[in-house]
Amino acid sequence: MPEARETAVYTHGHHESVLRSHTWRTAANSAAYLLGSLKPHMRILDVGCGPGTITADLAALVPDGHVTGVDHAPGVLEQARATAAGRGLTNVDFAVADVHALDHPDDTFCVVHAHQVLQHVGDPCGRCARCGG
Ligand SMILES: C[S@@+](CC[C@H](N)C(=O)[O-])C[C@H]1O[C@@H](n2cnc3c(N)ncnc32)[C@H](O)[C@@H]1O
Repeated sequence: MPEARETAVYTHGHHESVLRSHTWRTAANSAAYLLGSLKPHMRILDVGCGPGTITADLAALVPDGHVTGVDHAPGVLEQARATAAGRGLTNVDFAVADVHALDHPDDTFCVVHAHQVLQHVGDPCGRCARCGG
């Protein structure tokens, strides 16, 4: 099976006007479905984390765990890092990655979260490396 490759362009970009809307987002207003299931030790991957306000909120909710935010745009991750540092969070990190080619081993994360990302990617359904489904 051919490897999944990014075929979409993220048309919104990361202009200040776009980021103003994204940074309004919190875990409470954008990931409420998840909050009741979180445990303090959990390891979370936030795919397409953008400026990282949701990511930072999630890190605060898993103080004994860890959150990794990934995005394919390096510039926006600088803002995400600054947000996390400004809140004094030490259990979160950010890395450049394409959602189609994540290289974390199985069972690295307890939760994989994506908010407002899948509509922007070339292969939103993905394919399971194990079963091809
Ligand atoms: C609408 S923003 C959402 C950001 C954040 N999740 C939020 O809700 O505030 C979508 C983000 O997905 C990222 N993105 C788009 N395609 C991606 C891909 N193939 N791999 C990783 N990130 C991607 C974009 O760079 C952008 O930061």
